[in-house]
Amino acid sequence: MQVIIVANADAVGRIASAKIAAIVGADPTAVIGLATGSSPSDTYRALHGRVTKGEISFAGATGFALDEYVGISVSDPQSYASVITRDVVDPLGFDPVRVHVPDGRAVDLAAAAEAYEAAIKAAGGIDVQILGIGSNGHIGFNEPTSSFASRTRVKTLAPRTREDNARFFRSLDEVPIHCITQGLGTILEARELVLVAHGESKANAIADSVEGPVTSFVPGSALQLHRHATVIVDEAAASRLRLADYYRYVTLNEPQK
Ligand code: F6R
Repeated sequence: MQVIIVANADAVGRIASAKIAAIVGADPTAVIGLATGSSPSDTYRALHGRVTKGEISFAGATGFALDEYVGISVSDPQSYASVITRDVVDPLGFDPVRVHVPDGRAVDLAAAAEAYEAAIKAAGGIDVQILGIGSNGHIGFNEPTSSFASRTRVKTLAPRTREDNARFFRSLDEVPIHCITQGLGTILEARELVLVAHGESKANAIADSVEGPVTSFVPGSALQLHRHATVIVDEAAASRLRLADYYRYVTLNEPQK
């Protein structure tokens, strides 16, 4: 795992965008896993800058959102389908036909989850998965004790996650209780993982994920099992990493590729 520590959230977005841009530059039909929430918004903004300058294009790329709330209308501004359209599809110029979000309104949610897995497979798998992390260590909406073998499925959001996400809704009561999320097994199959985090509220989750034991109690620790995972954090999110100086040293002394 590579850990890159930068000054602030803006720099997190710039470094992450460079990684994604390199992948899409090499393969304009790349399949990209898309996180929502506040963590990746600087990354999407930086990517938008690159698209505007004509450096890269997402017109031929495919996208798969990590998750969606259950029961929320697709047209609700807080549905992840809406967020992905607003933050990713429109500004980055994806073809909406090739951007997928789990169907949180399906009558048969288990079938919708299975269909999502099949769609990822049919697209050839995910080349790079962008991840945020919850303050409780979740990735996607795989809450603590999610199986590392889990696939896309319905999950119950932890009370802490609902509280954390209440800022996007008018009240805590409006935050859905259930979601459909890619599983940890699904996420681990992506060819590359890029996790972005900023702010003090993520410091414990980052330290536990990067330096703690591999345990389903901390879903982010699943990254330790991936052969190509990069964690990009600002100083505040890095503040509880015991080997922070070592990660800085490694970044300064990267071997030639
Ligand atoms: C969202 C997702 C979640 C978020 C996490 C952090 O698609 O999968 O894991 O990345 O809840 O959310 P923010 O970035 O809003 O703090």
